[in-house]
Amino acid sequence: MELDPATYDGSLYRTLTGTVIPRPIGWISTTSPDGVDNLAPYSFFNVVSVEPPIVMFAPGPRPEGLTDTAANVEKTEEFVVNVVTEEFAEAMNETSATLARGESEFDHAGLGRTASTKVEPPRVEGIAVAYECELEEMRRVGSAHVLTGEIVYAHLDDAILDVEGKVDVGKVDAVGRLAGSHYDAVESRFRMERPD
Ligand SMILES: Cc1cc2nc3c(=O)[nH]c(=O)nc-3n(C[C@H](O)[C@H](O)[C@H](O)COP(=O)(O)O)c2cc1C
Repeated sequence: MELDPATYDGSLYRTLTGTVIPRPIGWISTTSPDGVDNLAPYSFFNVVSVEPPIVMFAPGPRPEGLTDTAANVEKTEEFVVNVVTEEFAEAMNETSATLARGESEFDHAGLGRTASTKVEPPRVEGIAVAYECELEEMRRVGSAHVLTGEIVYAHLDDAILDVEGKVDVGKVDAVGRLAGSHYDAVESRFRMERPD
């Protein structure tokens, strides 16, 4: 199939989310100005810069305008990225439910909160990797918004570190999103050395 986005009348969403795979999932916690903790998964998520460390995620459009996550970050300029591992996959899915604004996804999914060090939103209790972020920029890109945030503090469970204290990629059982309700787990890792 050849496809010109300008004239294609099928689902570009399906095409893009079914082929740009697997996507890491940033499980974003925020706190609203009136103190409600929000938690939602975003697979339009990645690292942008290392110095300084900056991550991005992209909430798509909603009939009411912004997602709760984007609305909270716009007002408070803070968020936490929780990295979704297999043991949290089902809870992550639970938190993608559309809830009333005053209801917290932490409570809806039966998740505990652990206080952050430098920002207000808590991280998910028991999560192996969490990055506390301050908003760098929020801007409109196409029909979505791209939010970039500088990591101001990181929590890494000792269980995912090697003897030298570096992250052991063999111990981070991150879950990736494919299209729709399809996910993948890291089941076979392999090595390939880069040429000089
Ligand atoms: C694995 C997964 C990844 C998702 N990724 C995105 C995304 O990148 N952008 C987006 O707008 N919605 C995404 N969603 C949908 C939101 O998580 C969902 O609409 C959620 O209710 C938004 O919550 P909020 O309004 O509290 O921010 C995703 C859902 C799931 C289950």
